[in-house]
Amino acid sequence: MSEIITDFDAPPGRKGTCSLKWGKYEDSDVIPLWVADMDFKSPPAVLVQARVSAEHGNFGYGRPPATLIEKIVKRSEDLYNWVIDPSWVVWLPGMVCALNVACRALLEESSQAIIQTPIYPPFLSASKNFDMPLTKVPLILRGNRFSIDFDALAALETKPGDLFMLCHPHNPVGTLFNENELSLLTEWLLERSLYLCSDEIHCDLILDKELKHLPPASLDPRISDKSITLMAPSKTFNIAGFGCSFAIIENSNLRAKFKKAMQGIVPDPPAMGFLLADAAYQGGEPWRMELIDYLKGNRDYAMSQLVEMNGLTPYSPEATYLMWIDARNLPVSNPHKFFEENGVGLSDGRDFDAPGFLRLNLGCSRKLLTEALSRMGTACEKLSSK
Ligand SMILES: Cc1ncc(COP(=O)(O)O)c(C=O)c1O
Repeated sequence: MSEIITDFDAPPGRKGTCSLKWGKYEDSDVIPLWVADMDFKSPPAVLVQARVSAEHGNFGYGRPPATLIEKIVKRSEDLYNWVIDPSWVVWLPGMVCALNVACRALLEESSQAIIQTPIYPPFLSASKNFDMPLTKVPLILRGNRFSIDFDALAALETKPGDLFMLCHPHNPVGTLFNENELSLLTEWLLERSLYLCSDEIHCDLILDKELKHLPPASLDPRISDKSITLMAPSKTFNIAGFGCSFAIIENSNLRAKFKKAMQGIVPDPPAMGFLLADAAYQGGEPWRMELIDYLKGNRDYAMSQLVEMNGLTPYSPEATYLMWIDARNLPVSNPHKFFEENGVGLSDGRDFDAPGFLRLNLGCSRKLLTEALSRMGTACEKLSSK
């Protein structure tokens, strides 16, 4: 077997590979920096496992290896000091699916779902898919960091059993909620007797070394008792295409409701998903450290370029490989279309409940990012000189 080296500067070409991200602009000269997947190869440990599985040649139904569950339990204790029981883990083929299952499970108890906007689009649709009313509480900008608006939460009408859906770290604004914010949030949740569904898919993508991810459920057993915590190795190790995610649910009644809501409609992850997840957690750490450095370099480079562009205000993410940009001062009616016409395909803020904003995916080679930013800069200059 040849040695597998990850060179973040030279990711494989993805045109013609059934890639969602690249397929959108397959026949045009638009650089795709939209959907949240990265262009890099997965960690060597994952690629070795993928080769072993492909050579084995059987792709029948899967079940989770005990080693994977052990790793999840150990990671939880080592990283968050949160002792979880293996029986609390529920497997799912994806996180969007999990958000929908959470709403379905709590449909009868919750008179509303509460989310913080702007937000990853499936948070906007999950409760609506089950005709559960949705309440949006905008995040508040403090300095250049988006945070929880506790005054707005205090003023909110809630009923016991309502569902608060947290995105932590937050997509698209890149905030990693800190211990103080999470403590205040958990106090509020406990006072109101609300359920928490916390999507932590980006939890291993913390860009600043001094920051630490904390699952709210790890902070207080009373919150753990009301929580559905969602995690996955998919974003971090670039294995989202093999759908392997999990929910951690301590409360057995809540877990039973969640499983009932899945019954008959949610398949198990595929065997390859389990195996690659296990390999990622087992051997992906050195690669993840390199990835974080590379993404941080991309983030800082993108910030340095974008702050110079008239009409754009970028926000530096603490976590995730996604950068949120306020383009409301750009003298165009549709910033997303404007940049697409100028050769860069970003995510449209309208999909996140924030018209006039854009989201840029930093999970690409520095060279591609440089070219995309140069196109964006030239486009902005053209506008200023009009
Ligand atoms: C916060 C968040 N949750 C869920 C997902 C999607 O997860 P999955 O592909 O497992 O459905 C994403 C993908 O971008 C995300 O950013």
